Amino acid sequence: MADFKEVPADAPVAQKVTTWFENRFPSAFAAYRVHMSEYYAPKNFNFWYFFGSLAMLVLVIQIVTGIFLVMHYKPDAAQAFASVEYIMRDVPGGWIIRYLHSTGASAFFIVVYLHMWRGMIYGSYRKPRELVWIFGCAIFLCLMAEAFMGYLLPWGQMSYWGAQVIVNLFAAVPFVGPDLALLIRGDYVVSDATLNRFFSFHVIAVPLVLLGLVVAHLFALHDVGSNNPDGVEIKAKKDSRGIPLDGIPFHPYYTVHDILGVAVFLIAFTAIVFFAPEFGGYFLEYNNFIPADPLKTPAHIAPVWYFTPYYSMLRATTDLMVNVLAAIVALGAVLAVLKGRFGGMAKIGVLVGALVAIGLLKFFDAKFWGVVVMGGAVIILFFLPWLDMSPVKSIRYRPGWHKGVYAVFVVFFFILGYLGSQAPSEVGNYVSQVGTLFYFGFFLLMPWWSRLGEFKPVPDRVTFAAH
Ligand code: HEM
Repeated sequence: MADFKEVPADAPVAQKVTTWFENRFPSAFAAYRVHMSEYYAPKNFNFWYFFGSLAMLVLVIQIVTGIFLVMHYKPDAAQAFASVEYIMRDVPGGWIIRYLHSTGASAFFIVVYLHMWRGMIYGSYRKPRELVWIFGCAIFLCLMAEAFMGYLLPWGQMSYWGAQVIVNLFAAVPFVGPDLALLIRGDYVVSDATLNRFFSFHVIAVPLVLLGLVVAHLFALHDVGSNNPDGVEIKAKKDSRGIPLDGIPFHPYYTVHDILGVAVFLIAFTAIVFFAPEFGGYFLEYNNFIPADPLKTPAHIAPVWYFTPYYSMLRATTDLMVNVLAAIVALGAVLAVLKGRFGGMAKIGVLVGALVAIGLLKFFDAKFWGVVVMGGAVIILFFLPWLDMSPVKSIRYRPGWHKGVYAVFVVFFFILGYLGSQAPSEVGNYVSQVGTLFYFGFFLLMPWWSRLGEFKPVPDRVTFAAH
């Protein structure tokens, strides 16, 4: 009883009730202080800092609408499509629940892509926030798995054939591939067994992992503190009470700030839900309004927009592309041997390594390398904290041409996304190949290019003009 807080007899009722709870659950109050009222965030957050809280909002929307969808949805190949139509037509309010969930899936990716972009331009993945970033990348992987498995559930033509194409990719893995594909499907083709396991993963397994990762992401962030658009560590300059001079309490300042973001987001989000839920076939593909037919392959199978940049990279990996990659490896090895400032043995090692790499490239099928490229495009993000060698964190203090490199990266990402949604074409394929090479070049050559150029001096304190 010694630690119990006392309240004066004439204190307001609210204070008495709060103190009653605090005396019995102090860790909840301590958590509130650590993460809200005494979490000091940099005072110069800008537009890009809205997307973390928006990602949390969308996560909640998806979970709540998902719970209601499950009440009426039937995870059975014979009934799934009809149960979704039943939700849309007969269940009171079912249509809005379903559209909130389907639009929420796309909104999630829009918000998360913008959130990741913010991390990239302000160097938020750099020391000491590597783990925040790594948890983020794991979240992104889970989100992709979640969206992919959710897409099978309506059991439309695109659900069925999209899953067929993607699961078949696993069959390209050397040696274990066919067994792996069988294990994922639970059958020789996508079937009721596949639907059941995808349902189970979509509604319980992956969301649990996702929630755990989001908690880890935020705890890790709050331990080290937020970065900001200047990339200046605010903890380096504190007042006599140990509070960062450029920090302001998260609550109330950023709770109010984030409500503005939430309001604007909800206006756009509900406008889409009410007026354009299919979004021209990008959020809900037209072919998915046709029930799955295992005997009729659609002429053009394309994943939903958020997967299309990676899908383009998969399609770009043809035999020609594998030859180009082999030539790049050979060129890299020759340059390393001619220009590298290391010993003879190391040079021999480089040449042997390059020969092995070229041998492997030619030994396995281009389809397999396509899968490697597609997976590698996401996995490479995990390594960003160690690829970026720039002396400053924020893009604000980098040479002008670095901004250009980032801009070209974004343009290529959009082009890859667009091409992945279109039927394959010869010109489109060449462009995707250039885009894929740029994407990987951007990351793999970053240890070299991120150090080059004239950097601007980083200020001691954050730059902030009161508004
Ligand atoms: C469900 C998905 C996610 C949720 C709910 C989420 C939530 C948050 C929140 C609330 C913050 C603090 C506010 C802010 O800085 O915006 C944050 C920061 C951060 N997130 Fe995420 N996040 C998600 C996904 C990701 C992903 C996919 C990445 C990167 C691959 C990522 C990387 C980061 C980084 C680096 C920070 C620190 C930013 C800074 O301090 O400048 N997050 N996240």
